[in-house]
Amino acid sequence: MKFFVDTANLDQITEAGELGVLDGVTTNPSLMAKEGISGEANIRAHYKAICDIVDGDVSAEVISTDFEGMIREGSSLVEIDDQIVVKVPMIKDGVKALRWFTDNGIRTNCTLVFSAGQAILAAKAGATYLSPFIGRIDDINWDGLELIGQIAEIYAVQGFTTEILAASIRNPLHIVRAAELGADVCTCPLNSILGLLNHPLTDIGLEKFLADHKKANG
Ligand code: E4P
Repeated sequence: MKFFVDTANLDQITEAGELGVLDGVTTNPSLMAKEGISGEANIRAHYKAICDIVDGDVSAEVISTDFEGMIREGSSLVEIDDQIVVKVPMIKDGVKALRWFTDNGIRTNCTLVFSAGQAILAAKAGATYLSPFIGRIDDINWDGLELIGQIAEIYAVQGFTTEILAASIRNPLHIVRAAELGADVCTCPLNSILGLLNHPLTDIGLEKFLADHKKANG
């Protein structure tokens, strides 16, 4: 399973990269706005800065919601760096745009996915990645992880090659369960990645090892 970090914050991307387990980055318009990045030139420069930090795919989302606009934006975004993957929303024109990008050799990430039906459409349109939003489904009292399992089963049975990118991850357990259920990628906030480190027995065990070493060695 690949690990992406879900942020536009350069410090967090650097910190995740230094762990040595990072395979890419996902961003969205909200994450870019959170970093105070606005204006086309600044947005493009920020994507370039992210690509320079991480050795892997970087998802950059289109703002347009019509086919022509998405094609124009996506074609321009991929000129920033060959690491750029065009993030396209799961709407009717988005599906058409996914097909156009696929036919023109441009990699895509279909975002805002909340159902198996949407997952089938995106795979049929040749999406490189599919982003089901686990946390946002949990927020409305449904089961986001169940959707990951359902899509993994459908893609395996049908031989679809679109990679399942579990998104809207809220905690380390989401990562573990998504991995069990067959997600190809997890995109996570840095805190959730670091949360995987935590176990009290590790801390207790390390403290004891160091204390015993000190006793023996002074
Ligand atoms: C990923 O590509 C999405 O942008 C992201 O995971 C959304 O997460 P959120 O529901 O925490 O905003």
